[in-house]
Amino acid sequence: MERLPGFRDFYPEPLPHQDLWSADARQYIFDHWRTTAKRYGFREYDGPPLETLELFTTKSGGEIIGQLYNFKDKGERDIALRPEMTPTLARMIAAHERSYKKPVKWFALPQLFRYERAQKGRLREHFQLNADIIGESAAAADAELVALLIDTLRSLRLTEADFLVRLSSRNAWHDFFQQHQGKLEQEYDFYQVIDKLDREEPETNQEKLAALGFSLAEVMVFIEKAEPTAELQVILDNLAARGLHDYVKIDYSVIRGLAYYTGSVFEAFDRKGELRAIAGGGRYDNLIKLISGGKVNLPALGFGMGDVVLLELLKARGLLPKFDGALDVFCLIEDESLRRDSLKLVQDLREAGLVVDYSLTPAKPDKQFKRAQELRAARTLKLERSAASEMVARVKHLQTREEQTLGVAEAAKSLKAGVGR
Ligand code: HAM
Repeated sequence: MERLPGFRDFYPEPLPHQDLWSADARQYIFDHWRTTAKRYGFREYDGPPLETLELFTTKSGGEIIGQLYNFKDKGERDIALRPEMTPTLARMIAAHERSYKKPVKWFALPQLFRYERAQKGRLREHFQLNADIIGESAAAADAELVALLIDTLRSLRLTEADFLVRLSSRNAWHDFFQQHQGKLEQEYDFYQVIDKLDREEPETNQEKLAALGFSLAEVMVFIEKAEPTAELQVILDNLAARGLHDYVKIDYSVIRGLAYYTGSVFEAFDRKGELRAIAGGGRYDNLIKLISGGKVNLPALGFGMGDVVLLELLKARGLLPKFDGALDVFCLIEDESLRRDSLKLVQDLREAGLVVDYSLTPAKPDKQFKRAQELRAARTLKLERSAASEMVARVKHLQTREEQTLGVAEAAKSLKAGVGR
């Protein structure tokens, strides 16, 4: 039986094969996502992986709809696996916004599903850090989110030499569109062309733009000028105050594919330009109103950072630690008459927070010791009876080879004192 294309199995390290995915590396990323978001005062939420199809078809825009995993369930409901988290968040906020003081700062770590052509950096399933601020229209919120994005990557030891946030604005493009007499009903089509500019040939771009009444030349002049709007300047100044100015650049070639964005938009890329976007987000001030059928109207903004490209980048820069899942203690049971006492001690140490293992079934002493070494135990612990028939504990430090024989309670106390060290 093979797994589905575009899906991943996550194994504990060391990995049996280079192309497999590491459950340890995934956890490492999740821990840093969670810790940094919490440091910024974000609270964790979650939602269901299955939603009604309608939640996505009306709000996300054509590109994502084409990639939906959707089907009828046994109750004849049209449903879809979530391809992104934002509509779920908007639905959740609309249902209970009164219970939360604004601005709401929330994050989630959802697994998302998109039926894409699997390629480097793109799979049919991925995890995202989603961080969003609801109920604040000031550009200070946009800056706070970009700062969180930057600090999340910095917490993983990436620097300004590794990545860059490209900051843009749909308002700037909206003004451009109006100044050049674009037709209102074609505005999103125009955005779609801008979104794909660097993925298409100039002739194709020129053709598509001409059909909407624009020339490629005027579009390129606007992008190359890269003049920050007043709103973007506030974000830049705010980030500069935090010493984060080297991580951001105005880049109007970013416009984002999703339909619901309304204001600032941004994407994070590796500096070498070898990988796809690490993260993307922006303002979506109308989405909650749309999803609540006009009942709740709150400004909102956020970003999603995917684990796939991020892992590629961390691997390429050699920034992933070695994961060995080492044990604190391996308990050797060489005398089966001491198994009950050994189990009692193992339980006691585990309750105190130590990572402890032992042989589940009787085994030769050398086999048990080998297992302790394979599991990279810091220490072995062995109960013995002394000549006076008293129970003692022998503790051996496997690296220094230092050995001590202590009373059982004393040994437990000394091992517990090392918890977390
Ligand atoms: P998105 O740009 O579609 O935005 O996805 C954000 C990030 O998720 C991308 O930059 C990429 O790293 C990763 N990603 C997306 N699709 C895949 C895939 N098929 N395989 C691997 N990684 C992928 C959103 O999803 C918005 N909902 C983000 C947002 C939150 N906007 C406001 N709040």
